[in-house]
Amino acid sequence: MSGPPRTAALFHGILLVLVAGGLAGCNVAVDDAAAAANPPSQSLSPALIAQGKRIFRFDTFGDEQQWTDRLRMHEVVETVPPLTALAVGLKVDAEALPPGLLANADLDDPATTVALLKLDAVVGLKATVDADNRVKRLGITCALCHSTVDDSLAPGVGRRVDGWPNRDLDPGAIIALSPAVPAAAKAVYTSWGPGKYDPRFNIDGLNTPLVLPPAYGLRHIRNETYTGDGRVSYWNAYVAVTQMGGHGNFADPRLGIAIRQSPDLVTPKLPALRAYQLSLAAPRPPAGSYDAIAARRGRPVFARNCMGCHVGATGTDNNGGKLHLPAETGMDGAYAARTVNKAYRTTPLRGLWQHPPYFHDGSAATLADVVAHYDATLRLRLTPAQRRDLVEYLKTL
Ligand code: HEC
Ligand code: HEC
Repeated sequence: MSGPPRTAALFHGILLVLVAGGLAGCNVAVDDAAAAANPPSQSLSPALIAQGKRIFRFDTFGDEQQWTDRLRMHEVVETVPPLTALAVGLKVDAEALPPGLLANADLDDPATTVALLKLDAVVGLKATVDADNRVKRLGITCALCHSTVDDSLAPGVGRRVDGWPNRDLDPGAIIALSPAVPAAAKAVYTSWGPGKYDPRFNIDGLNTPLVLPPAYGLRHIRNETYTGDGRVSYWNAYVAVTQMGGHGNFADPRLGIAIRQSPDLVTPKLPALRAYQLSLAAPRPPAGSYDAIAARRGRPVFARNCMGCHVGATGTDNNGGKLHLPAETGMDGAYAARTVNKAYRTTPLRGLWQHPPYFHDGSAATLADVVAHYDATLRLRLTPAQRRDLVEYLKTL
């Protein structure tokens, strides 16, 4: 599927300074800023992690310039009842609510949404609300896409779980509510559906949305993203500046992007933000969520058929930089073609039970679908029993 022409995409997009095409093909090391491998544990001090947690949850990096000034989402949220907000996957942080608030609240009344915003209780949204309860500024944070809640109080209302992708969130539907988005782009945004986002649509005008990935279990992973674009801070800066619309710097000559905005509200925060992400462990599978005996039988099936790529404790062969052409694993190559490396990183396998669907495009709804895909593509000739055992093993990772 292709989107509207580049000009239309850029029209509503963030401040992009596209460097002339000639530079796009050259091979430049991008992750200078984050060149060192993930830092040794002493640089992940509790204080740095705590600072990173605040940034991850509450820092907009000045992206109000996009969500307020350009997209006018502050006007939109004032008209949205909490029930509608929950329906597009927004989550409410129960710990930010005074006792009893929810029981007495009218969830059909947009004023309740404003009250929740005032309490910093809508995960991933940061609002400035004036004395007359008008929303003056609105921005988004990393937590919007990479946190959810545990539903402990009600569906969509509970304690925050950072790093868990919010697969209920429909970012495209939310952006499409903006009065500033032209119709052609709106059609693209509304085509994505829950749990998906295309982090390059506003750059190249193409449309192959990605499943929102977990931001946990990254401690020993060298390169982030489905296509192994760079280190965690490279990608954090990319997203903060080019997607969230943060006020800061990001440059990658390979992509022809050079954005400088002073003051830079992004770069100084990257070390703390990285420390917090690296501190987020993958969640263990809940007790009783898999058949332990079958999983034990599945382990050697995994070792024989999968460990060529999903190697070692991290489950990826990318720590030495290796990537795979789409055809090697039977993947749709359209997204990879839009990236620098044109190939996919072997996804580290962690918390698999927590985040269906699988693969960059969500093409496998379940772990059984993952196994069926590989059985067909790699001609593994697994017996039905081996497939079942392998699925149980994957649930343990
Ligand atoms: C609008 C939704 C959205 C927001 C907001 C967002 N991300 Fe992401 N994030 C994504 C998507 C989609 C990807 C997948 C990109 C890819 O792999 O190519 C991603 C990928 C990542 C990854 C790589 C995970 C992996 O397995 O390699 C990390 C880490 C990450 N984001 C952290 C952040 C941080 C930190 C912020 C805030 C600065 C942030 N994200 C804001 C949607 C979002
Ligand atoms: C030739 C290398 C290779 C082999 C062999 C391989 N994988 Fe993968 N695996 C990949 C790549 C590359 C991806 C990322 C594909 C994508 O997202 O488009 C991936 C993604 C996955 C995912 C998705 C994870 C997520 O969070 O979305 C799962 C699950 C998985 N593989 C399981 C397996 C199993 C089970 C086997 C053995 C039957 C296997 N893989 C064999 C390279 C491989």
